[in-house]
Amino acid sequence: MRTSREMAVTAETLRQRCAELMASHPRGFGDCGWLHEAFLSVPREHFVQDSVWWETPGKDGRHTLLDRTQQPKTWLEMIYEPAVALITQMDDGAVLPTGRAKGALTSSISSPGVIIELLRHLAPQPGDRVMEIGTGTGYTTALLATRADAEHVVTVEIDAELAARARVRLAALDLHPLVIAGDGELGYTTGGPYDRIVATASVRRIPQAWLDQLRPGGVLVVPLDSPFGHDLLVRLEGDGHGTAQGRAVERVMFMRVRGQRDVVPYADLGWPTGAAPENWSDLYITAGPAGQRIILPEASATPPS
Ligand SMILES: C[S@@+](CC[C@H](N)C(=O)[O-])C[C@H]1O[C@@H](n2cnc3c(N)ncnc32)[C@H](O)[C@@H]1O
Repeated sequence: MRTSREMAVTAETLRQRCAELMASHPRGFGDCGWLHEAFLSVPREHFVQDSVWWETPGKDGRHTLLDRTQQPKTWLEMIYEPAVALITQMDDGAVLPTGRAKGALTSSISSPGVIIELLRHLAPQPGDRVMEIGTGTGYTTALLATRADAEHVVTVEIDAELAARARVRLAALDLHPLVIAGDGELGYTTGGPYDRIVATASVRRIPQAWLDQLRPGGVLVVPLDSPFGHDLLVRLEGDGHGTAQGRAVERVMFMRVRGQRDVVPYADLGWPTGAAPENWSDLYITAGPAGQRIILPEASATPPS
């Protein structure tokens, strides 16, 4: 049996190795020195429960459990694999992590790579007011709180139990952002207006509340469902009057916010007909009181109605 000290040393080594990989990766830290430092300073394993599921199911559609008590080395190694997300909740908590299981994946600790990508595009500055939607384990919140001052960080999680667990984990690291249990699609007016808003759950339609709570020039980074079989990470800048505009910056895949799980025709979500997947990075997105519009610049003369 290894001591917790030996375990901590191993975690540090893995964190360092993961950081080295992300430092040289084209979708890694880039020139965000603060993010590299934050990644090295936050013990990611602290946010992961003992029993999680692998993201990829077996042939029978069931997800295998990865249990720390049975496989401590694999559990720790997977936490620091750049592209691995670990599933922490199925069917909104109705399925307990006690064995192989089948169900809708409803919460996870996002992979190190995707979180680094989100935060690189978000580029929060010291002193910024930041709102995160989808607290999950609280890991992304911890990275944000080391950059933007914890008292200026608000994170909203729809699952009250997950929110409570994240609050405790953050406090154990002496990080005290405001963790709100509630529907993040409504944002959190009291903490705003925000310089930065980031969602770690995807939307089909960008909620107006987020646009209303964004400061003029504020940045919103959110995974947006697309007709291409994956989400697009979009980075929009707000005008301070409830409208924001910008581009798709990456292809990603996220769990959907609870209130937007139902399928909606893309034409009703402002998508142009016939947009080709290879043109994803040319798309221009506007969202505001007039609705959501996604256009290809060359098609801008005939935007979707
Ligand atoms: C992919 S997980 C977030 C993972 C988090 N970034 C982490 O690394 O721990 C998405 C989270 O969004 C939450 N969520 C879904 N709909 C939401 C909503 N309307 N408001 C707030 N949180 C929501 C889910 O409960 C889930 O915990």
